[in-house]
Amino acid sequence: MSSPEPTVIRALLARQTGWVSGGDLAKKLGVTRVAVWQYIEKLRAAGFGIETRRSSGYRLVSPPPDAHAGLIEAQLKIRPRGFSLTVLDETDSTNDEAARQLAAGRVAPFAIIARRQTKARGRLGRPWHAPANGNLYISFAFRPQLAPARMTPFTLWMGLNLCELIANATALKPGLKWPNDLIFEGRKAGGILTEARVDADQIRDLVFGLGLNLNSPASAWPADLGQRAVSLAELTGASLDFNRLTTAVIGRVLLAYQRFVDGDYAENFATLWHRYDVLRGRTVTLLEGTRRHPGTVLGVDDEGALLLKTGRGRTHRFPAGEVTLEKNPAA
Ligand code: BTN
Repeated sequence: MSSPEPTVIRALLARQTGWVSGGDLAKKLGVTRVAVWQYIEKLRAAGFGIETRRSSGYRLVSPPPDAHAGLIEAQLKIRPRGFSLTVLDETDSTNDEAARQLAAGRVAPFAIIARRQTKARGRLGRPWHAPANGNLYISFAFRPQLAPARMTPFTLWMGLNLCELIANATALKPGLKWPNDLIFEGRKAGGILTEARVDADQIRDLVFGLGLNLNSPASAWPADLGQRAVSLAELTGASLDFNRLTTAVIGRVLLAYQRFVDGDYAENFATLWHRYDVLRGRTVTLLEGTRRHPGTVLGVDDEGALLLKTGRGRTHRFPAGEVTLEKNPAA
């Protein structure tokens, strides 16, 4: 018999304001009421708040605070063929774990969430602070089989989609700081690390990693990050439903990835870029290795490279780099 967990979770979700009878669940699953009670106990142990009433049955009163694969899968509305999700307690880096599993032949697409990472990485080899603190650490694994040149705007496109998702799901105003920072009120709440393996002029393996600060308290940041980092819970003043938001992130990433691969994104890219780009018209310094390029940001080109107008009035394009704002450190 396949696992009863999705059926029990779906039944609880469908009747979130009401009660689910143990007898009905037992009939649906073809098991005894005692077996249903045992499944419910398992969910309770995983952090679900479930009330029991003798005459009425079971009622979901609070979702688990941590990632729960069964709950995410039950809430997920879109699911590309073959998609699977793994939730780990701990790993070194979800990007590394996804790359290892791709190399071992796991069917893509899939996603890996870890409650904590011991060697999480950001761009340019920087460490990413990733203890078990209620934040989301997730990596998606794909096999796009596209020419590397086609992939250049991918990270920006995904970042824009995440901004749009957060703007729709919360009252917050996200911004995207080229090339991969999710910014709120001038502080960073998320970062993206896209890594690819190229084989015979094709992107064979693609890992899209996202660190999104959801529920960590302000006190959780190490001193050097305190001024620059923020979580969505700090901004909204209330903790977010981790599994609901994570489900929405997964749905949006899978959809945005498909649009990207189909080549059906240019128009939407321009609209979203206009809405969420925080750099346009700003005076910045672009760091390219050890070289510094001061200038004014004009925008990005079709390949996602940053266009910078330098002091001599010339426009330069930068496919990669690190941007520091020179004035008004609002973003
Ligand atoms: C950055 O802003 O420099 C990118 C940060 C990306 C962090 C995420 S957390 C999940 C995934 N696993 C990693 O090791 N890194 C990414």
